[in-house]
Amino acid sequence: MPRNFMQLPDFKKDLGWIAGVKEYIAIRLDAVNHYKPKRVGEIGVWRGVSACALVCCDDVKEYVGIDINTENCFKVVRLRLKYTNKHLDVELLEQDSMELHKLPGEPFDFIHIDGCHDTEYVLHDAVISLFSLKPGGILLFHDYHRSETREGIDQFLEKNKKDIAKVYFKGDVNVNSNVFVQKAG
Ligand SMILES: C[S@@+](CC[C@H](N)C(=O)[O-])C[C@H]1O[C@@H](n2cnc3c(N)ncnc32)[C@H](O)[C@@H]1O
Repeated sequence: MPRNFMQLPDFKKDLGWIAGVKEYIAIRLDAVNHYKPKRVGEIGVWRGVSACALVCCDDVKEYVGIDINTENCFKVVRLRLKYTNKHLDVELLEQDSMELHKLPGEPFDFIHIDGCHDTEYVLHDAVISLFSLKPGGILLFHDYHRSETREGIDQFLEKNKKDIAKVYFKGDVNVNSNVFVQKAG
């Protein structure tokens, strides 16, 4: 894990919460350094671990995060994002993704989906995110190893084949399975 993650405000508290957190961060850092998105969206911000990894690249200029925010985390997320990328334009929206038909601020180059992991939510979040993505843009799903999440992602992939250019998997298949989906150009 890069040293600066350990230095994020209040970060030690999060280390035990996400299984395979080092790999989780590394996969997201690699992804943004590879795809170099300018505009990043996320459903499921929580305390901003993924958000910080996703904006940790000079190319990223804008981040929009959506979360029901029941744990009141937006304050620490704002602090952390400022620490990670000083030139970033940040919008955090307290919002149930199920009430959305698209992500506010679309279109995005890269969207991370890590909200509610129930099948119907995953499927819904995936559909509105695909709609909110630029042609050739990337969707990244976390938790494919969880059966309800996997079911939602599989249904999404099956129903949207014609709009998808590429699908690939990364990470530990037992604790940290991630799916990358590239929208057709
Ligand atoms: C697994 S956590 C996200 C972890 C985050 N990506 C990180 O790396 O720190 C899931 C988040 O999804 C949010 N969430 C759950 N249901 C949601 C919904 N319907 N709409 C928006 N956010 C939701 C929860 O409040 C929680 O913060």
